[in-house]
Amino acid sequence: MIFFFSGTGNSRFTAYRLADILDEKPCFIPSSIPEEVLFEGSQLGFVFPVYSWGVPPLVLNFIRRLSDSFCGIIKTHLIPVWAVCTCGDDTGLTPEMLKKELEAKGLNMSGAWSVTMPNTYVLLPGFDVDSQEVCANKLEYAQIRVDEIGRQIKSANWKIDVIRGKFPWLKSHLIYPLFSRWGINTSRWHWASSCIGCGRCAAVCPVRNIEISEGHPKWDIRCVSCLACYHICPVHAVAYGKITRMKGQYTCPLPLSHSQQ
Ligand SMILES: Cc1cc2nc3c(=O)[nH]c(=O)nc-3n(C[C@H](O)[C@H](O)[C@H](O)COP(=O)(O)O)c2cc1C
Ligand code: SF4
Ligand code: SF4
Repeated sequence: MIFFFSGTGNSRFTAYRLADILDEKPCFIPSSIPEEVLFEGSQLGFVFPVYSWGVPPLVLNFIRRLSDSFCGIIKTHLIPVWAVCTCGDDTGLTPEMLKKELEAKGLNMSGAWSVTMPNTYVLLPGFDVDSQEVCANKLEYAQIRVDEIGRQIKSANWKIDVIRGKFPWLKSHLIYPLFSRWGINTSRWHWASSCIGCGRCAAVCPVRNIEISEGHPKWDIRCVSCLACYHICPVHAVAYGKITRMKGQYTCPLPLSHSQQ
């Protein structure tokens, strides 16, 4: 089983491709846990985007909620637990953060890999999506990388193989907690006058934080800052304060594996 979270599709593509290679079932994290799918000889993978050099809080909360019986099945059947995180640049100490969280549930993390994919973070000055050329290069290499990671997992070639970047401790221990606490101010989301009321922003939100009211989106307070609503809007009408005005948009264009759809 592969639990995955994704806002703009990079991690979804990665999870589906790995599921195909490993003959496992992809399972979107905000949905409930189908416990019966684990059996001897299967795998337990986590695939998610790196958020502020750490594990998205939604993924951490999901792991904290795993039941004792579910974790017991993993331990009894010696099911390997691994993680693949997608990132725009670098991961900081994301694998270490995940390992600690799994250990608190009595689980051992066998391996962790990162895949560099197009960047989606746009909510701070100086952060924007990649140029078309950079996107194309990252997407081309990402497919090769995911296939290679799949082969390594299949042959139990366990390792931690991520790009940690510069000052990983500082980023994961000082900036990540600030992001978790203050990273999103839900009251800053709004729609611009170009909104055509298509509802795509509401449909794509993984935590159902948006409702269409009187023909336009209305944001609630459960936002997990995945930015799916911002990137999906066909007329660039989803705005976060004024910061997104001149920023680009991105949604993963890679097709999902047919056998898993
Ligand atoms: C809130 C947020 C924080 C992010 N922080 C990082 C980061 O610390 N390092 C990094 O390399 N990329 C970062 N990114 C970029 C994403 O990790 C990357 O684009 C990822 O592949 C997006 O996955 P998705 O399309 O499955 O949502 C961040 C993106 C978001 C939305
Ligand atoms: S996706 Fe854009 S155009 Fe469609 S309802 Fe949302 S803000 Fe309006
Ligand atoms: S409201 Fe928040 S959680 Fe929902 S799609 Fe937008 S950024 Fe993601």
